[in-house]
Amino acid sequence: MRLDKFLCESSYFTRALAKRAIKSGKVTCDGVVVKDAGFKVQTKHRICYEGDELNLVGERFLMLHKPDGTVCATVDDVHPTVIDLLDIEKPEALHIAGRLDMDTTGLVLITTDGQWSHRITSPKKECGKCYLVTVADPLDAQLIETFAAGVALRNEDGLTKPARLEIIDSHTARLTITEGKYHQVKRMFAAVGNKVVGLHRESVGSIVLDDDLEPGEWRYLTEDEIKSV
Ligand code: URA
Repeated sequence: MRLDKFLCESSYFTRALAKRAIKSGKVTCDGVVVKDAGFKVQTKHRICYEGDELNLVGERFLMLHKPDGTVCATVDDVHPTVIDLLDIEKPEALHIAGRLDMDTTGLVLITTDGQWSHRITSPKKECGKCYLVTVADPLDAQLIETFAAGVALRNEDGLTKPARLEIIDSHTARLTITEGKYHQVKRMFAAVGNKVVGLHRESVGSIVLDDDLEPGEWRYLTEDEIKSV
């Protein structure tokens, strides 16, 4: 990897700042000043900026317990974003693997790895997302078959993919879907004449929201959780 790219990927430097730092003689490789931004860094090299060692920040994977009222976006002028909740280096490298509405709570996965998040969000991969749903009107057992067969969403062609509904009580159910259409759960219930009044994501694939995380808290995923996707 080029030295200027190495600086960008191990610090807050933009490419222009990295080039300037290198030119100014503040960057060393194994104790020797290197002024060539194109210098090829190898794994055996010890790169320092003003004497401090720099290490590459690798791919990152984390889960957040999204609280009500936060936006699943990287920036928002009005509301706090889920990224604002992370006291983490280089937050601009992160993206959200499957967004939730502002009033939806629960599991949000955040990563730097685009291929990994594609495996979560692509409908072709059929990664199940499980939601705890509270509705305004009583639930009918017939809905289990209706959602398994697929429903027509307003302004969309075709039917939703088979979804699994587990009725918990008259107004609460667990719904697992493998797609992530805009407002999908709310629109599925609207399609059958009901209204979602509470929505909480419990799991994505086999990754379950950690009980120890209060709303607004996050942790890194374990190796097993990362590999499960
Ligand atoms: N479906 C919705 O309607 N909203 C969400 O936030 C997630 C799924």
